[in-house]
Amino acid sequence: MLGTFTFENPTRIHFGQNALESLNQELPKFGKNVLLVYGGGSIKKSGLYDQVVEILKANGKTITEDAGVMSNPTVDKLYEGVERAKAGNVDFILAVGGGSVIDYAKAVSVSINCKEDPWEKYFERMEDVDCEIVPVGTVLTMVGTGSEMNGGSVITNHAKKLKIGHVFGPNVFPKFSILDPTYTYTLPTYQMVAGLFDIMSHLLEQYFSGTDDNTSDYVIEGLLRSVIHSARIAVKNPKDYEARSNIMWTATWALNTFTHMGKPGDWMVHMLGQAVGAYTDATHGMTLAAVSIPYYKHILQAGLPKFKRYALNVWNVDPTGKTDEEIALAGLDAMADYMREIGVVMNLTDLGATPDMIEGIADATFILKGGYKVLTRDEVVAILKASL
Ligand code: NZQ
Ligand code: ZN
Repeated sequence: MLGTFTFENPTRIHFGQNALESLNQELPKFGKNVLLVYGGGSIKKSGLYDQVVEILKANGKTITEDAGVMSNPTVDKLYEGVERAKAGNVDFILAVGGGSVIDYAKAVSVSINCKEDPWEKYFERMEDVDCEIVPVGTVLTMVGTGSEMNGGSVITNHAKKLKIGHVFGPNVFPKFSILDPTYTYTLPTYQMVAGLFDIMSHLLEQYFSGTDDNTSDYVIEGLLRSVIHSARIAVKNPKDYEARSNIMWTATWALNTFTHMGKPGDWMVHMLGQAVGAYTDATHGMTLAAVSIPYYKHILQAGLPKFKRYALNVWNVDPTGKTDEEIALAGLDAMADYMREIGVVMNLTDLGATPDMIEGIADATFILKGGYKVLTRDEVVAILKASL
């Protein structure tokens, strides 16, 4: 039975080749002083930076630049960005990049007028925004996180060895996002593949919860089949527009709150992955990949009917002569084969994690209660050890 919910997603999407032209429609709706946020330079190499600056100037905007947003953006960078935004008196933030750049832009957006320490308020205490926000628009260049159409913002605090995500409300969602699949052609294969697994993981986190008959589970199975199909094509031919465009749109739908309506979610793979990220600074999607199979094998008995359904409906496992457990395990084996085929990292050792980090990573893992099994700390340690 569907739970009670209010669904609202206010982000306007401009999708397709040359979608950047839509920036000309969007910019007049916002203020003159723009904070242009981007990462380590990929947009300069690709030429997108020049195009965006030209459009901003043509629309009479004054630009304050905020470059160098790193993957897994840090709290120190956030403090710096807030000062920069204040100095530029910005009334609009344009984020051009991947999830890190967009997450960071949202964090700056809610921090500019915040009277308290934003890290403590939003990420440690998970409090709501009670100040005026500065609107954010995005041009997406890396696909996976869904940050282009959600309120998620993940910030890393290296001093405290914590990586924490806050899911802000619809007023913090990007006002618009520009999605041109051709921008993803320049992504290094490692990033593309990490993003592909991130999409899958978002879908699975929402799928592996609940025992009711729920529309979202059917939608999720369809999205999973689509991303698995397109991923196989894109790893062979990264410039296959059909595959890249389907992947981009699937990523957006995988985490734009739609499939989460009326059902709980698990999110323990992300909690484990984020804790690994806090220790290793590894690429987000790869941290998820490294823990997923050990985690799902660990909880398989607790959610057996759903794991069986996953095997049958997503992986087309032949059930003939198999017990439910054998069917479910065959589904996870098919998933592991697919992961190896597209080239994700299958263990934590390859991400720089070492046995002496396990206790610390376990301490940094938030244990959530929405999935099929509420883990104990000992179980977290066991899963992490099995993932090494
Ligand atoms: O910094 P630049 O030079 O732009 O390079 C980036 C970066 O090195 C590069 N890149 C991006 N677009 C490119 C490109 N290189 C060539 N051509 C392009 N078109 O790719 C690298 C990775 O980018 P990044 O933004 O870090 O990746 P991603 O989109 O995976 O974002 C990861 C962050 O998002 C958080 C993660 O935890 C992590 O901090 N997440 C955010 C979520 C949300 N908002 O809902 C949910 C996710 O589960 C996730 O936790
Ligand atoms: Zn993710």
